[in-house]
Amino acid sequence: MKKIGVLTSGGDAPGMNAAIRAVVRYGIFAGMEVVGIERGYAGLLENKMIPMSMRSVSDIIQRGGTILRTARCLEFKTPEGQEKGVENLRKAGIEGLIVIGGDGSFMGAKALSERGFPAVGIPGTIDNDLAYTDFTLGFDTACNTVLDAINKIRDTMTSHERVSIVEVMGRKCGDIALYAGLCGGAEVIVVPEHKLSIETICERLTESKERGKLSGIVVLAEGAGNANDLAKEIESRTGFSIRSSVLGHLQRGGSPSMKDRYLGTSMGVYAVKLLEKGVGNRIVGIHKNKIFDMDIVEGCAMKKQFDYELYNMAAIVAR
Ligand code: ADP
Ligand code: F6P
Repeated sequence: MKKIGVLTSGGDAPGMNAAIRAVVRYGIFAGMEVVGIERGYAGLLENKMIPMSMRSVSDIIQRGGTILRTARCLEFKTPEGQEKGVENLRKAGIEGLIVIGGDGSFMGAKALSERGFPAVGIPGTIDNDLAYTDFTLGFDTACNTVLDAINKIRDTMTSHERVSIVEVMGRKCGDIALYAGLCGGAEVIVVPEHKLSIETICERLTESKERGKLSGIVVLAEGAGNANDLAKEIESRTGFSIRSSVLGHLQRGGSPSMKDRYLGTSMGVYAVKLLEKGVGNRIVGIHKNKIFDMDIVEGCAMKKQFDYELYNMAAIVAR
Protein backbone atom coordinates (compact mmCIF):
# COMPACT_ATOMS: atom_id res chain seq x y z
CA MET A 1 0.00 0.00 0.00
CA LYS A 2 1.23 3.47 -0.82
CA LYS A 3 -1.33 5.61 0.96
CA ILE A 4 -3.04 4.87 4.27
CA GLY A 5 -5.44 6.71 6.57
CA VAL A 6 -5.74 6.89 10.35
CA LEU A 7 -8.65 8.02 12.53
CA THR A 8 -9.64 8.01 16.20
CA SER A 9 -13.24 7.23 17.13
CA GLY A 10 -15.52 6.86 20.17
CA GLY A 11 -14.33 7.91 23.65
CA ASP A 12 -10.81 9.33 23.58
CA ALA A 13 -8.08 7.63 25.60
CA PRO A 14 -4.56 8.62 26.71
CA GLY A 15 -2.11 6.93 24.34
CA MET A 16 -4.10 7.61 21.18
CA ASN A 17 -1.64 10.38 20.26
CA ALA A 18 1.29 8.03 20.76
CA ALA A 19 -0.41 5.61 18.33
CA ILE A 20 -1.09 8.36 15.74
CA ARG A 21 2.54 9.48 15.99
CA ALA A 22 3.80 5.94 15.45
CA VAL A 23 1.47 5.31 12.49
CA VAL A 24 2.55 8.54 10.80
CA ARG A 25 6.28 8.23 11.44
CA TYR A 26 6.52 4.50 10.66
CA GLY A 27 4.26 4.87 7.63
CA ILE A 28 6.47 7.62 6.18
CA PHE A 29 9.59 5.60 7.06
CA ALA A 30 8.09 2.70 5.07
CA GLY A 31 7.57 4.96 2.05
CA MET A 32 3.84 5.56 2.43
CA GLU A 33 1.72 8.69 2.45
CA VAL A 34 -0.31 8.97 5.65
CA VAL A 35 -3.60 10.85 5.81
CA GLY A 36 -5.18 11.87 9.14
CA ILE A 37 -8.97 11.80 9.18
CA GLU A 38 -10.44 14.20 11.72
CA ARG A 39 -13.41 13.48 14.02
CA GLY A 40 -13.64 9.73 13.39
CA TYR A 41 -16.23 8.37 10.99
CA ALA A 42 -18.04 11.74 11.03
CA GLY A 43 -14.95 13.35 9.48
CA LEU A 44 -14.62 10.48 7.01
CA LEU A 45 -18.13 11.19 5.71
CA GLU A 46 -17.29 14.90 5.46
CA ASN A 47 -13.89 14.33 3.81
CA LYS A 48 -12.01 15.94 6.68
CA MET A 49 -8.66 14.57 5.56
CA ILE A 50 -5.25 16.08 6.20
CA PRO A 51 -1.89 14.91 4.87
CA MET A 52 0.35 14.08 7.83
CA SER A 53 4.08 14.84 7.95
CA MET A 54 6.80 13.81 10.39
CA ARG A 55 6.49 17.22 12.06
CA SER A 56 2.68 17.18 12.26
CA VAL A 57 3.02 14.64 15.08
CA SER A 58 5.80 16.42 16.98
CA ASP A 59 5.32 17.09 20.68
CA ILE A 60 2.24 14.86 21.08
CA ILE A 61 3.47 11.57 22.60
CA GLN A 62 3.03 13.04 26.08
CA ARG A 63 -0.42 14.50 25.47
CA GLY A 64 -3.76 12.98 26.41
CA GLY A 65 -6.77 13.20 24.10
CA THR A 66 -6.34 12.90 20.34
CA ILE A 67 -4.98 15.53 17.94
CA LEU A 68 -7.29 14.11 15.25
CA ARG A 69 -10.22 14.65 17.60
CA THR A 70 -13.01 12.09 17.89
CA ALA A 71 -16.74 11.84 17.43
CA ARG A 72 -19.70 9.53 17.49
CA CYS A 73 -21.41 9.20 14.11
CA LEU A 74 -24.83 7.58 13.76
CA GLU A 75 -24.79 7.82 9.97
CA PHE A 76 -21.83 5.45 9.81
CA LYS A 77 -23.97 2.73 11.37
CA THR A 78 -26.12 2.67 8.21
CA PRO A 79 -25.21 0.80 4.99
CA GLU A 80 -25.45 4.10 3.07
CA GLY A 81 -23.01 5.78 5.48
CA GLN A 82 -20.56 2.90 5.20
CA GLU A 83 -20.75 2.94 1.35
CA LYS A 84 -20.08 6.67 1.38
CA GLY A 85 -17.12 6.10 3.72
CA VAL A 86 -15.56 3.56 1.35
CA GLU A 87 -16.21 5.85 -1.60
CA ASN A 88 -14.54 8.82 0.12
CA LEU A 89 -11.51 6.72 1.05
CA ARG A 90 -11.15 5.39 -2.51
CA LYS A 91 -11.57 8.85 -4.07
CA ALA A 92 -8.75 10.12 -1.84
CA GLY A 93 -6.54 7.26 -3.07
CA ILE A 94 -6.38 5.72 0.41
CA GLU A 95 -5.82 1.95 0.28
CA GLY A 96 -6.05 0.97 3.95
CA LEU A 97 -7.36 2.50 7.18
CA ILE A 98 -6.20 2.29 10.80
CA VAL A 99 -9.03 2.80 13.29
CA ILE A 100 -8.07 3.63 16.89
CA GLY A 101 -11.10 3.16 19.16
CA GLY A 102 -13.26 0.84 21.20
CA ASP A 103 -15.75 -1.92 20.38
CA GLY A 104 -18.17 0.44 18.58
CA SER A 105 -15.39 1.83 16.41
CA PHE A 106 -14.29 -1.72 15.63
CA MET A 107 -17.80 -2.50 14.35
CA GLY A 108 -17.26 0.37 11.91
CA ALA A 109 -13.87 -1.03 10.88
CA LYS A 110 -15.49 -4.46 10.46
CA ALA A 111 -18.16 -2.92 8.21
CA LEU A 112 -15.45 -1.36 6.01
CA SER A 113 -13.63 -4.69 5.81
CA GLU A 114 -16.87 -6.47 4.84
CA ARG A 115 -17.21 -3.94 2.01
CA GLY A 116 -13.79 -4.90 0.71
CA PHE A 117 -11.85 -2.01 2.23
CA PRO A 118 -8.88 -3.17 4.36
CA ALA A 119 -9.06 -1.82 7.90
CA VAL A 120 -6.95 -2.52 10.99
CA GLY A 121 -8.11 -1.73 14.55
CA ILE A 122 -6.00 -0.53 17.48
CA PRO A 123 -7.81 -0.84 20.85
CA GLY A 124 -8.19 2.63 22.34
CA THR A 125 -10.53 2.96 25.31
CA ILE A 126 -9.98 3.52 29.02
CA ASP A 127 -12.58 0.82 29.80
CA ASN A 128 -10.41 -2.23 28.97
CA ASP A 129 -13.62 -3.89 27.81
CA LEU A 130 -12.30 -5.71 24.73
CA ALA A 131 -12.09 -9.46 25.29
CA TYR A 132 -9.42 -10.33 22.70
CA THR A 133 -6.66 -8.17 24.23
CA ASP A 134 -5.22 -8.13 27.76
CA PHE A 135 -5.07 -4.33 27.75
CA THR A 136 -6.37 -1.36 25.78
CA LEU A 137 -4.73 2.05 25.28
CA GLY A 138 -5.65 4.47 28.06
CA PHE A 139 -6.60 1.92 30.69
CA ASP A 140 -3.31 2.12 32.58
CA THR A 141 -3.33 5.94 32.64
CA ALA A 142 -6.97 6.04 33.78
CA CYS A 143 -6.22 3.56 36.58
CA ASN A 144 -3.24 5.65 37.71
CA THR A 145 -5.46 8.74 37.76
CA VAL A 146 -7.99 6.88 39.90
CA LEU A 147 -5.20 5.66 42.19
CA ASP A 148 -3.97 9.21 42.69
CA ALA A 149 -7.50 10.22 43.69
CA ILE A 150 -7.89 7.23 46.03
CA ASN A 151 -4.58 8.04 47.75
CA LYS A 152 -5.69 11.61 48.40
CA ILE A 153 -9.16 10.58 49.53
CA ARG A 154 -7.62 7.97 51.86
CA ASP A 155 -5.57 10.64 53.67
CA THR A 156 -8.63 12.64 54.66
CA MET A 157 -10.85 9.60 55.30
CA THR A 158 -8.30 8.19 57.76
CA SER A 159 -7.89 11.52 59.54
CA HIS A 160 -11.66 11.76 60.06
CA GLU A 161 -12.29 7.99 60.43
CA ARG A 162 -14.72 8.02 57.55
CA VAL A 163 -15.77 5.85 54.63
CA SER A 164 -15.67 7.15 51.05
CA ILE A 165 -17.45 5.93 47.96
CA VAL A 166 -15.30 6.59 44.88
CA GLU A 167 -17.29 6.28 41.66
CA VAL A 168 -15.21 5.47 38.58
CA MET A 169 -15.99 4.97 34.88
CA GLY A 170 -17.13 1.65 33.44
CA ARG A 171 -20.74 1.14 32.42
CA LYS A 172 -20.52 -2.54 31.55
CA CYS A 173 -16.95 -3.40 32.43
CA GLY A 174 -15.60 -3.12 35.98
CA ASP A 175 -11.89 -3.33 35.11
CA ILE A 176 -11.04 0.25 36.17
CA ALA A 177 -12.74 -0.36 39.53
CA LEU A 178 -11.10 -3.78 39.87
CA TYR A 179 -7.49 -2.78 39.11
CA ALA A 180 -7.57 0.65 40.78
CA GLY A 181 -9.45 -0.86 43.74
CA LEU A 182 -6.91 -3.68 44.11
CA CYS A 183 -3.93 -1.33 43.84
CA GLY A 184 -5.48 1.38 46.00
CA GLY A 185 -6.35 -1.03 48.82
CA ALA A 186 -10.11 -0.53 48.53
CA GLU A 187 -12.04 -2.38 51.23
CA VAL A 188 -14.92 -3.04 48.82
CA ILE A 189 -15.06 -3.11 45.01
CA VAL A 190 -18.45 -2.97 43.31
CA VAL A 191 -18.60 -3.82 39.60
CA PRO A 192 -21.42 -4.41 37.08
CA GLU A 193 -20.29 -8.01 36.50
CA HIS A 194 -20.75 -8.91 40.18
CA LYS A 195 -23.17 -6.64 41.98
CA LEU A 196 -22.95 -6.85 45.76
CA SER A 197 -26.03 -6.48 47.94
CA ILE A 198 -26.18 -3.48 50.25
CA GLU A 199 -26.10 -5.91 53.18
CA THR A 200 -22.80 -7.41 51.99
CA ILE A 201 -21.23 -3.97 51.45
CA CYS A 202 -22.23 -2.82 54.96
CA GLU A 203 -21.08 -6.11 56.48
CA ARG A 204 -17.64 -5.79 54.82
CA LEU A 205 -17.21 -2.22 56.06
CA THR A 206 -18.32 -3.11 59.58
CA GLU A 207 -15.95 -6.09 59.74
CA SER A 208 -13.15 -3.93 58.46
CA LYS A 209 -13.78 -1.37 61.21
CA GLU A 210 -13.87 -4.17 63.80
CA ARG A 211 -10.46 -5.32 62.56
CA GLY A 212 -9.14 -1.89 63.48
CA LYS A 213 -9.22 -0.03 60.19
CA LEU A 214 -9.66 3.71 60.58
CA SER A 215 -11.08 4.39 57.14
CA GLY A 216 -12.85 2.62 54.30
CA ILE A 217 -12.82 3.04 50.54
CA VAL A 218 -15.55 1.59 48.36
CA VAL A 219 -14.68 1.76 44.65
CA LEU A 220 -17.89 1.70 42.66
CA ALA A 221 -18.02 1.33 38.86
CA GLU A 222 -20.62 3.69 37.35
CA GLY A 223 -22.49 0.75 35.81
CA ALA A 224 -23.05 -0.80 39.24
CA GLY A 225 -24.75 2.12 40.99
CA ASN A 226 -24.59 5.74 42.02
CA ALA A 227 -22.09 7.01 44.61
CA ASN A 228 -24.43 9.46 46.33
CA ASP A 229 -27.28 6.96 46.65
CA LEU A 230 -24.92 4.29 47.95
CA ALA A 231 -23.39 6.70 50.48
CA LYS A 232 -26.84 7.59 51.88
CA GLU A 233 -27.87 3.96 52.07
CA ILE A 234 -24.70 2.86 53.91
CA GLU A 235 -24.91 5.82 56.28
CA SER A 236 -28.49 5.05 57.24
CA ARG A 237 -27.72 1.35 57.82
CA THR A 238 -24.39 1.66 59.68
CA GLY A 239 -24.27 5.15 61.11
CA PHE A 240 -20.75 5.58 59.65
CA SER A 241 -19.69 9.01 58.46
CA ILE A 242 -19.70 8.65 54.67
CA ARG A 243 -18.51 10.91 51.83
CA SER A 244 -18.58 10.31 48.09
CA SER A 245 -16.66 11.46 45.00
CA VAL A 246 -17.56 10.94 41.36
CA LEU A 247 -14.30 11.08 39.39
CA GLY A 248 -15.96 11.47 35.96
CA HIS A 249 -14.09 12.66 32.90
CA LEU A 250 -10.84 13.49 34.65
CA GLN A 251 -10.22 9.75 34.20
CA ARG A 252 -10.19 10.18 30.42
CA GLY A 253 -7.57 12.92 30.20
CA GLY A 254 -3.98 13.48 31.21
CA SER A 255 -0.53 12.59 30.03
CA PRO A 256 -0.35 8.91 29.07
CA SER A 257 1.64 6.58 31.32
CA MET A 258 4.79 4.84 30.10
CA LYS A 259 2.71 1.71 29.46
CA ASP A 260 0.15 3.52 27.30
CA ARG A 261 2.90 5.26 25.30
CA TYR A 262 4.57 1.89 24.79
CA LEU A 263 1.29 0.25 23.72
CA GLY A 264 0.36 3.14 21.40
CA THR A 265 3.76 3.13 19.76
CA SER A 266 4.12 -0.64 19.37
CA MET A 267 0.55 -1.18 18.19
CA GLY A 268 0.76 1.77 15.79
CA VAL A 269 3.89 0.39 14.12
CA TYR A 270 2.42 -3.14 14.10
CA ALA A 271 -0.78 -1.93 12.39
CA VAL A 272 1.17 -0.14 9.64
CA LYS A 273 3.27 -3.27 9.08
CA LEU A 274 0.06 -5.25 8.47
CA LEU A 275 -1.18 -2.75 5.88
CA GLU A 276 2.31 -2.61 4.35
CA LYS A 277 1.93 -6.34 3.62
CA GLY A 278 -1.55 -5.70 2.22
CA VAL A 279 -3.21 -7.35 5.23
CA GLY A 280 -6.49 -5.83 6.47
CA ASN A 281 -9.51 -6.98 8.46
CA ARG A 282 -7.40 -7.44 11.60
CA ILE A 283 -7.30 -6.03 15.12
CA VAL A 284 -4.10 -5.55 17.07
CA GLY A 285 -3.81 -6.50 20.74
CA ILE A 286 -1.42 -7.53 23.50
CA HIS A 287 -1.43 -10.93 25.16
CA LYS A 288 1.16 -12.09 27.71
CA ASN A 289 3.26 -9.02 26.86
CA LYS A 290 3.36 -9.80 23.15
CA ILE A 291 1.75 -7.64 20.49
CA PHE A 292 -0.36 -9.78 18.13
CA ASP A 293 -3.18 -9.48 15.59
CA MET A 294 -6.33 -11.43 14.93
CA ASP A 295 -9.30 -11.54 12.61
CA ILE A 296 -11.62 -8.60 13.23
CA VAL A 297 -14.84 -10.67 13.11
CA GLU A 298 -13.45 -13.31 15.45
CA GLY A 299 -12.01 -10.74 17.87
CA CYS A 300 -15.17 -8.62 18.01
CA ALA A 301 -17.27 -11.72 18.75
CA MET A 302 -15.27 -12.67 21.86
CA LYS A 303 -16.95 -12.14 25.23
CA LYS A 304 -14.93 -10.53 28.00
CA GLN A 305 -14.56 -12.65 31.15
CA PHE A 306 -14.41 -10.88 34.50
CA ASP A 307 -11.26 -11.75 36.47
CA TYR A 308 -12.70 -13.31 39.63
CA GLU A 309 -9.28 -14.47 40.80
CA LEU A 310 -8.09 -10.85 40.97
CA TYR A 311 -11.39 -9.74 42.49
CA ASN A 312 -11.21 -12.32 45.30
CA MET A 313 -7.54 -11.58 45.89
CA ALA A 314 -8.32 -7.86 46.27
CA ALA A 315 -10.84 -8.63 49.03
CA ILE A 316 -8.37 -10.82 50.94
CA VAL A 317 -5.43 -8.43 50.83
CA ALA A 318 -7.59 -5.45 51.86
CA ARG A 319 -8.59 -7.07 55.17
P1 ADP B 1 -16.23 3.14 21.18
O1 ADP B 1 -15.49 2.92 19.92
O2 ADP B 1 -15.41 3.89 22.19
O3 ADP B 1 -16.85 1.88 21.72
P2 ADP B 1 -18.87 4.04 20.29
O4 ADP B 1 -19.56 2.79 20.70
O5 ADP B 1 -19.52 5.33 20.59
O6 ADP B 1 -17.41 4.17 20.88
O7 ADP B 1 -18.64 3.95 18.70
C1 ADP B 1 -17.93 4.94 18.01
C2 ADP B 1 -18.46 5.07 16.61
O8 ADP B 1 -18.25 3.85 15.89
C3 ADP B 1 -19.97 5.30 16.49
O9 ADP B 1 -20.35 6.64 16.70
C4 ADP B 1 -20.23 4.89 15.05
O10 ADP B 1 -19.83 5.89 14.16
C5 ADP B 1 -19.26 3.69 14.91
N1 ADP B 1 -20.02 2.45 15.15
C6 ADP B 1 -20.49 1.97 16.33
N2 ADP B 1 -21.19 0.83 16.15
C7 ADP B 1 -21.20 0.60 14.83
C8 ADP B 1 -21.77 -0.43 14.00
N3 ADP B 1 -22.49 -1.43 14.53
N4 ADP B 1 -21.55 -0.35 12.67
C9 ADP B 1 -20.84 0.65 12.14
N5 ADP B 1 -20.28 1.64 12.85
C10 ADP B 1 -20.44 1.62 14.18
O1 F6P C 1 -15.94 4.31 26.86
C1 F6P C 1 -15.22 5.21 27.61
C2 F6P C 1 -16.10 5.96 28.58
O2 F6P C 1 -15.28 6.90 29.22
C3 F6P C 1 -16.88 5.13 29.59
O3 F6P C 1 -16.12 4.67 30.66
C4 F6P C 1 -17.96 6.08 29.99
O4 F6P C 1 -19.06 5.39 30.50
C5 F6P C 1 -18.28 6.78 28.70
O5 F6P C 1 -17.12 6.67 27.89
C6 F6P C 1 -18.65 8.22 28.85
O6 F6P C 1 -18.88 8.72 27.58
P1 F6P C 1 -19.19 10.23 27.18
O7 F6P C 1 -19.22 11.04 28.40
O8 F6P C 1 -18.12 10.63 26.23
O9 F6P C 1 -20.52 10.15 26.50
